[in-house]
Amino acid sequence: VCSGRSVGPGWSVGAAMSVFVTRRIPAEGLRVLSQASGCRVRQWDSEEPVPRAELLSGVAGARGLLCLLSDRIDREVLDAAGPSLKVISTMSVGFDHLALDEIKKRGIRVGYTPDVLTDATAELSVALLLSTCRRLPEAAEQVKSGGWTTWKPLWMCGYGLSDSTVGIIGLGRIGQAIARRLKPFGVKKFLYTGSGPKPESAAEFGAEFVPLTRLAEESDFVVVTCALTPATQGMCNKDFFGRMKKTSVFVNTSRGAVVNQEDLYNALAQGQIAAAGLDVTTPEPLPTDHPLLSLKNCVVLPHIGSATYATRSTMAVLAAKNLLAGLRGEPMPHELKL
Ligand code: NDP
Ligand code: DGY
Repeated sequence: VCSGRSVGPGWSVGAAMSVFVTRRIPAEGLRVLSQASGCRVRQWDSEEPVPRAELLSGVAGARGLLCLLSDRIDREVLDAAGPSLKVISTMSVGFDHLALDEIKKRGIRVGYTPDVLTDATAELSVALLLSTCRRLPEAAEQVKSGGWTTWKPLWMCGYGLSDSTVGIIGLGRIGQAIARRLKPFGVKKFLYTGSGPKPESAAEFGAEFVPLTRLAEESDFVVVTCALTPATQGMCNKDFFGRMKKTSVFVNTSRGAVVNQEDLYNALAQGQIAAAGLDVTTPEPLPTDHPLLSLKNCVVLPHIGSATYATRSTMAVLAAKNLLAGLRGEPMPHELKL
């Protein structure tokens, strides 16, 4: 049963630091809040997202909001919260779900969770890339369905990383961590694109800064790890996929909206590109009858990049610490500069 609940030292002392937590989070994170003196916690204590009406009523009068990437924090939520709201802490590194202009206008501080999920997300990105290029879900299905009749020289072949060119869209924390993991597979060349060259980050991989078009044309593997912004929304579109090689593999672990999914479907269905691996989609969850799920050359995961027990626990603790520091007027462990 979904219900709001109060934990913590009590209403009278806590009025100064009333916070709303929009979901059940790892216990370690909630403990940080409930043990903080003067903090009164209300929580949508469920695995499922808080219904909009409950979010609007839950946040009313709160000083702090601990939210997830699936909560759209827009003007309506900020209005419902009212002038008491001073800090928003998201348990994510991505912040495309927050209406930052409106948040800034109201003088609200924002905390987020960079770094602590970089390794887990890079690891998952590599796993997804390998699953996609070596066709692991399709091959495993063949074992179960009886499609495996004998060892066949031309059966279940894919593409390998050795001697390949890997193009990274967004050589940030996660992009670099992926490159670091892929290099020992024998990658010949790394390309990257972004808002400008980053010689210091690129040096470790000898990565070359190139325009998006050249990255599409020359990469055997394209890995998307940029933030979702107005500039990156729909960036991987018909023109982009049209430039990729027929033998190339596309992987996205950033946000679904960076990709025009209809264009991706057409590219995969028409054999313009070899395969795609997606940890993120539009919408999430992807409807089970979505055309992408009918394709053998598309591997779709349910947004599990940061999903290790340890990482999610650390994210929750960091989100709680960001929130408390903001409420106390102290520097946050990780504050988003607005
Ligand atoms: P960073 O801020 O370190 O990296 C983001 C990168 O995006 C930067 O390198 C930036 O490059 C790049 N970028 C910005 N604008 C553009 C553009 N127009 N074209 C190409 N690249 C651009 O963030 P993280 O690496 O920590 O995280 C990246 C994203 O990954 C998050 O925003 C989130 O959406 C997603 N994510 C997904 C997870 C999952 O579970 N699948 C888990 C964690 C994160 P520059 O500096 O040149 O602007
Ligand atoms: C994020 O943090 O932005 C991811 O999408 C989930 O960990």
